[in-house]
Amino acid sequence: MEFYDVMKKRRSIRSFNRTPIEPEKLRRIMEAVQVAPSANHVQPWKFIVVTDPNQIKRVTDAARGQTFVGEAPIIIAAVGFPKDKMSSNGNVAHMVDLGIAGEHLALAVAAEGLATCWIAALDQEKMCNVLNIPTNARVVAVFPVGYSSVEPYSKSRKTLAQITALNTWDGQPPDWAK
Ligand SMILES: Cc1cc2nc3c(=O)[nH]c(=O)nc-3n(C[C@H](O)[C@H](O)[C@H](O)COP(=O)(O)O)c2cc1C
Repeated sequence: MEFYDVMKKRRSIRSFNRTPIEPEKLRRIMEAVQVAPSANHVQPWKFIVVTDPNQIKRVTDAARGQTFVGEAPIIIAAVGFPKDKMSSNGNVAHMVDLGIAGEHLALAVAAEGLATCWIAALDQEKMCNVLNIPTNARVVAVFPVGYSSVEPYSKSRKTLAQITALNTWDGQPPDWAK
C-alpha cells in the first residue's frame, strides 16, 4: 500500500474478530518497529507480545476494563525504560521514543490489513504486575492487534489552517494551508 494511503487508512479500531494473525505479518510489523528512530539510538524499549488467553484477560483488566482489548488475538505492550531519564529539553526521554515506535507499529498494522488501537488508559501498577515489568520501566501503551470486525466511521480533523502558523505561535497559517 502506498505510504500516504496507509496513514489515511490507519484508524483506531475497537472491535476485533478471532481470526489468528499470520506470524509473518507480526514479524513484518515488529521489523517496522525495529527501525524506529530513538534519541542517541538507545532504543529504550521492549515489546511484550501477549498471546496466552488468561494473560490477555489480565491485561484487559489492567487496561481499565476496556473490554474490546480482550477481543484481539494478541496484545502488544510497549514498555519504555529507564522510566526517570529526562532529555535535556525536559521531556521524559523514553516517552518520545516509544511514541514514535508506537506509531510505526500502528501504521505497519494498517499496512498489513490488520487493526489496532493505541491504549494508554491503563492502571500502571496493575499492568506492571501482570507483565512482570522491572521497577525501572513503564508501560507506555498496549495495542490489541487483530482483524477488524467493523468499518471505521469517518472522523473530522482540525483543518491545516487551524494546526499551522507561520514563524510564531500567533502567525497566520501558510498560504498552502488555507
Ligand atoms: C496517546 C494515545 C492514547 C490513547 N488512549 C486510548 C485509550 O486508552 N482507549 C481508546 O479507546 N483509545 C485511545 N486512543 C485512541 C484515540 O482516541 C484516537 O487515536 C483518536 O480518537 C483519533 O481517532 P483515530 O485513531 O481513529 O484517527 C489513544 C490515542 C493516543 C494517541
